[in-house]
Amino acid sequence: MKCIEVPKKYAERTIKLLRALHIMDNEHIITRKNDHVLIPVKKPPVNNELSSIPIRLIICNPPAKKKKEVKVPAHDIVGDIAVVRENVLEYMSREDIVETLRATYPRIRTIYLKKRTEGEFRVADLELLWGIDNPSTIHKEYGLRFKVDLRRAYYNPRLSEEHRRIAENAKDGEIIFDLFSGIGGFTIHIASLHKATVLMNDLNPYAVRLGVENILLNKKRIRGTIIPLHMDALLAPKYFRAERFDRVIANIPRSSYLFEEIYWYLLRSKGILHLYFLSSISERDGFIKRYFARWELAGVRKVIDYAPYVFIWRADLIKP
Ligand SMILES: C[S@@+](CC[C@H](N)C(=O)[O-])C[C@H]1O[C@@H](n2cnc3c(N)ncnc32)[C@H](O)[C@@H]1O
Repeated sequence: MKCIEVPKKYAERTIKLLRALHIMDNEHIITRKNDHVLIPVKKPPVNNELSSIPIRLIICNPPAKKKKEVKVPAHDIVGDIAVVRENVLEYMSREDIVETLRATYPRIRTIYLKKRTEGEFRVADLELLWGIDNPSTIHKEYGLRFKVDLRRAYYNPRLSEEHRRIAENAKDGEIIFDLFSGIGGFTIHIASLHKATVLMNDLNPYAVRLGVENILLNKKRIRGTIIPLHMDALLAPKYFRAERFDRVIANIPRSSYLFEEIYWYLLRSKGILHLYFLSSISERDGFIKRYFARWELAGVRKVIDYAPYVFIWRADLIKP
């Protein structure tokens, strides 16, 4: 390749002129040779402006600039929103996060940094990194449309396969209690596949409202019956007959064990409980034995990662 060789004292002026002429080769590094500087160029200059500077066009071999390798940070895409977790800041600047995510997903309109998940409603504390500050969007799971509001109700797009798996497991005619339904992920998947009756319950009123909006959004695809409820799951025995349900979904991983008596009360004999819980691999079986000793374990599987060495598991438990 070619370089302009120029005495050091003219280097700055030459670089400016070459830049203005758009012929500097920015992929390679400017080097020094004794009291001269070698500036890589894409083609020889033809401009008179350089005529006053003692330059020489020479053959050269400057090293290539190292391309800054910026990896796409771990993230979730929810509708047209990208969400990154705060720990990403340990290895990436805010600017690089925004730049790489925008380059990877040109259609996103917002990037949030998720600081933590807060309170009993498990809603996200979000800091706007880029774009429009609006945490409400529509996210698709298997063609179903879900309205979410990331600041008001729990939603995790990584649960979409799990919603589907449970729905594929359910059957026509079942009566199912989705006790901690959030915006209705499990419920709407089930009711779209089966003529089942699903009680969709959450303590967070915003989650219930979004759940109802999601029934409307998917009305053409829903085959079953959905009954939205806004109540503390602990009160279920007050309003429902014992042993009324074929299936209970208990997706409240941090505290699902606290409701064991409620599940027992609601399920008929041979009814199935889908219990979600947090644990490391080594503590998993001990957890089930400690809190669910009177149930028959039909299976257990890892659902998603939660933290280093901690996972969300699902145990399928049968009431004897
Ligand atoms: C992990 S989220 C559920 C996610 C939802 N199943 C999904 O798949 O998207 C747990 C939900 O439990 C709700 N919740 C917390 N305590 C509750 C209670 N005592 N009774 C009913 N719902 C409760 C929260 O508001 C939250 O929406």
